Amino acid sequence: MEIRKATSNDKELLIKNFKHYKFRNLIQNRVECYLTHNNTLIAIKNNQLIGIIQWKIKEDPNLGVAEFEEIFVLKEYRGKGVGSALLKSSIQAVKEFFKKIGIKSRRIYLFVNENNKNAIQLYKKFNFKYVSNLGNLFSDTHNELFYTLDLTQNY
Ligand SMILES: CC(C)(COP(=O)(O)OP(=O)(O)OC[C@H]1O[C@@H](n2cnc3c(N)ncnc32)[C@H](O)[C@@H]1OP(=O)(O)O)[C@@H](O)C(=O)NCCC(=O)NCCS
Repeated sequence: MEIRKATSNDKELLIKNFKHYKFRNLIQNRVECYLTHNNTLIAIKNNQLIGIIQWKIKEDPNLGVAEFEEIFVLKEYRGKGVGSALLKSSIQAVKEFFKKIGIKSRRIYLFVNENNKNAIQLYKKFNFKYVSNLGNLFSDTHNELFYTLDLTQNY
């Protein structure tokens, strides 16, 4: 398996990955955005995209804060370390980004549904800490939780 940054050459792979969104225009716009404004890391095995994560710098880059979005691993590859490899690489990528521009890294944050035990386990494994409950954001039945990783700590 290879973990690498997605480029414009991966556009079709990414569009295929988001086909469950149904709205083709929205998918295309989003993929464009992921490839230009966001950073997208992908896990590739046998030329197939098996996992993905997006990260972006939030607000003023001087604040040293990044957001992680939409980590996803194909069902048949879950529980084999792909999510961990993506998370590890993206945490490293955020640190390197801030280091390169001479800014102290402060936090990475993300939202996760309280029902999503596997994802919560994955984030905890990488020292993300629960901060607060955001209520019914993406679901009417389950709350969304706010987690952050403190990049000023050496874990
Ligand atoms: C969450 C997700 C990305 C995890 O990816 P993954 O490749 O399965 O993760 P890993 O195999 O690296 O496992 C990471 C950790 O998560 C936990 N975990 C993952 N799958 C688990 C399972 N089936 N049962 C128990 N714990 C599990 C474990 O703590 C594991 O660490 P360990 O193996 O060292 O104990 C994947 O389940 C997924 O794509 N889910 C659907 C999309 C999603 O919910 N994304 C999160 C949005 S916030």
